[in-house]
Amino acid sequence: MLELHNIRFQPATSERVVLDGINLKVTSGQPVLISGNSGSGKTSLLEVISGLAGAKEGAIHWNNETLTRRQRRWLCGVVFQFPERHFLGLNIAQELKLGHKRLTSEQSNEVLRRVGLSGVDKRQAPERLSGGQQRRLALAVQLLRRPEVLLLDEPTAGLDWSVRTEVLELLLNLARDRPLIVVTHEPDLFEGWRGNHWKLKEGRLHALSPLPL
Ligand SMILES: Nc1ncnc2c1ncn2[C@@H]1O[C@H](COP(=O)(O)OP(=O)(O)O)[C@@H](O)[C@H]1O
Ligand SMILES: [Mg+2]
Repeated sequence: MLELHNIRFQPATSERVVLDGINLKVTSGQPVLISGNSGSGKTSLLEVISGLAGAKEGAIHWNNETLTRRQRRWLCGVVFQFPERHFLGLNIAQELKLGHKRLTSEQSNEVLRRVGLSGVDKRQAPERLSGGQQRRLALAVQLLRRPEVLLLDEPTAGLDWSVRTEVLELLLNLARDRPLIVVTHEPDLFEGWRGNHWKLKEGRLHALSPLPL
């Protein structure tokens, strides 16, 4: 279980506190959706959890132990809002192999299948994929790292309405085995979300009633 205790965050260059006493528990099988307007601090929250940014106050526990920022970088797999900015490989096969030199063709096919990219030509440059496919590839890259916790920043941004249900199903499936947090500014797209739903506003989390199934 991932637990956030009274997290306060203020970027060095910001005059205001962005996260102001965040408390949250995330367990496997109970995914968390956090919605909030643009600028409400959603990305900052994922950065703090994953150790990419440092909180001013508060603690983050994993299975009742406090983890350092460095430990949290290993713990968390983050799928960023604009994954294309983070691709390094010249083609899909290479992208998957980064950090996994011995990855077999079967293993890469398996992970591509899990994210709904089976059949894609692995010799293509990641940039040639559509926005939705790039996000799936970024997710595949993270899954290969076998992170304990998955964090997704705006996974539906710019996606076609028609693939929305597929993405939702994929996320809910992945959430069965690990704590998972999704942040979004478009909660309407998550109709059917089976998990908790919070709203981030003025630096704090407010519980929302479950979305209709
Ligand atoms: N490194 C930073 N330096 C200065 N301000 C920042 C930094 N990171 C985030 N902020 C500010 O924190 C607020 C929340 O940003 P962000 O977490 O990106 O929100 P969201 O993802 O909800 O749109 C914004 O006002 C943004 O300008
Ligand atoms: Mg953001």
